[in-house]
Amino acid sequence: MVSLKTSIEGLTFQPPLILASGIMGQTAESLQKMIMMGMGGVVTKSIGYESREGHPNPSMVEMETGLLNAMGLPNPGIERFCRELDKFSSSKPIIGSVYASTTEEFILLSKKMEDHGADAVELNLSCPHAEGYGASVGSDTELVREIVENVVKNVDIPVFPKLPPMSDMITISQVVEDSGAHGVVVINTVKAMAINYETSKPILGNLYGGYSGPGIKPIGLRCVYDVYESVDIPIIGCGGVTIGKDALEYCMAGSSALEIGSSIYYRGLDAAEKISSEMMDLLEREGYDSLDDIIGTAHR
Ligand SMILES: Cc1cc2nc3c(=O)[nH]c(=O)nc-3n(C[C@H](O)[C@H](O)[C@H](O)COP(=O)(O)O)c2cc1C
Repeated sequence: MVSLKTSIEGLTFQPPLILASGIMGQTAESLQKMIMMGMGGVVTKSIGYESREGHPNPSMVEMETGLLNAMGLPNPGIERFCRELDKFSSSKPIIGSVYASTTEEFILLSKKMEDHGADAVELNLSCPHAEGYGASVGSDTELVREIVENVVKNVDIPVFPKLPPMSDMITISQVVEDSGAHGVVVINTVKAMAINYETSKPILGNLYGGYSGPGIKPIGLRCVYDVYESVDIPIIGCGGVTIGKDALEYCMAGSSALEIGSSIYYRGLDAAEKISSEMMDLLEREGYDSLDDIIGTAHR
C-alpha cells in the first residue's frame, strides 16, 4: 500500500491533508468532527486578542469556479477560544491560527495557543479582507521578519507563517526562513470582488473578499513552485485542492502537505477521505511507493 504519511518538524500528518483555517474551525467539537471525517490534522479559525464580529452581510458568494468570502475574521477572542482548545483531544495535530497587527500581540496569542495544547502555530499574515491585519501585515517585509523572529523565540512549538499570493514570493519566503520559521503555508485566499450586474453594485458588504476553491489552484501552484525554488523549509500548499490530482500537483510543485478548505463545500464533510483515496489510487497506478517520491518533481 502506498504511504501517504508526511512529517513536518516532528508532526505527523496521515493523510497529509489538513483542515484549512476558517472552515469548521471555531469549536473543539467541529475540529474533532473533521478529524473523524478523514483529516490528518486541523488548523483552528484565526483567533485575535479581542472578540470580533466580522464584516456585514453578504459575506459569502458562490462564483463560477470558487467561493468569494469577506467574513472579516469573526472569532470569540483568545480567552474564550482557549476553553475550546482545552476540550480538544486527538492524536492528530492541531495548529492554532492567530492574527494580530503587532509583534507583541502575535507573541501573546501564540504563547496562549501553546499553553492550551496547540501542536504548532500558524501566523495569519495573509487574510486579504481585514484592514490592518493579515495581508496588510504580510506585505511589510520588515514587520514580518520582526514577528516571525520573536514568535519563534518565545514558543517551543513549530511556527508556520501563512503567506498571501504575491508576484514576488521569493523575498517574503526567504525572510520567513531567515527568521527561523519551521515551515510555510502557501497561500491564503486571493483578494477579489463580485459585482451584481442587475444593481450595478458590488455584492459583498465589505466590497472586497478572498477568492478560494478550484479557480485559485493555478495561482497557488505557481506560488508553491516559486517558494520551493527559494527556501529549504517544508511547504504546506493550499488553494483549490478539490480532487486527488490537485493534491499531487501541489506536491510535485513542492508541497509536503496540503491544507484544504473550500473542498468541504464542493465534496462534503468527508472531502479529506475522498481526496486521500484518490491520491492513493493515482500514486499506485503510476507505481510510486510513497508521497515523498513526488515532492518537488516538477522542478528541473
Ligand atoms: C469562509 C472562509 C473563511 C476563512 N477564514 C480564514 C481564517 O480565519 N484564517 C486564514 O488564515 N484563512 C482563512 N480562510 C482561507 C483558507 O484557510 C484557505 O487559505 C483558502 O480558502 C484557500 O484554500 P481552499 O481553496 O482550499 O479553500 C478562509 C476561507 C474561507 C472560504
